[in-house]
Amino acid sequence: MRPKACIFDLDGVIVDTAKYHYLAWKRLAKELGFEFTEKDNERLKGVSRMASLEILLSVGGIQIDDASVKEQLADKKNTWYVEYISQMTKDEILPGVEDFLKMLKENGIKIAIGSASKNTMTILNRIGIKDIFDAIIDGTKITKAKPDPEVFLKAAQELNVRPEECCVFEDAVAGIEAAKAAGMKVIGVGDPSILKGADKVIQSFVGQGIELIEF
Ligand code: G6P
Ligand code: MG
Repeated sequence: MRPKACIFDLDGVIVDTAKYHYLAWKRLAKELGFEFTEKDNERLKGVSRMASLEILLSVGGIQIDDASVKEQLADKKNTWYVEYISQMTKDEILPGVEDFLKMLKENGIKIAIGSASKNTMTILNRIGIKDIFDAIIDGTKITKAKPDPEVFLKAAQELNVRPEECCVFEDAVAGIEAAKAAGMKVIGVGDPSILKGADKVIQSFVGQGIELIEF
């Protein structure tokens, strides 16, 4: 079976922004007086901004009850993050991604972005590939974060396809769970020992053909 549509997570799938998220969270942790490791950061992948802050605070053993203080911390992290991504260029599109997207379009497959990030448009504008997508569902259009399937179900709806006709590309455990909960096929991008729930796992898009999405 070949899906009618592919839905791509953005951070860690199309671009390596995970490193910028990490830098900004690490900087916040430092300000709060603790170290935040790359291993800790794995837990933030695919997770919304506020949920990420909660995880970060629990790693540091810090309890904050005041919601407005939490908002301020999340805003601070986002300001640094936006500084980093505002320097991004087209070169930061991950290897093989652009060719793979073009190949899908040539084969009549619809393509969409399904990301939790509220900075999705800033990134897509920076790297200049916004127009190739038939639909873009980002953090500004959803109310429930991954592993809830909302983002992917909305993308399917906008593309006018049924969930079971979609294949999702994800680098995060929460995203794989979300795709599964949506009733979609899912291809993990990254380490197979971390992305265990995926139907297939690839290391990169380089050299991938249409057979990748045949199940
Ligand atoms: C993606 C990333 C997460 C990030 C989330 C929200 O899912 O993988 O690390 O926290 O988007 O991003 P934002 O840009 O809205 O803070
Ligand atoms: Mg991701």
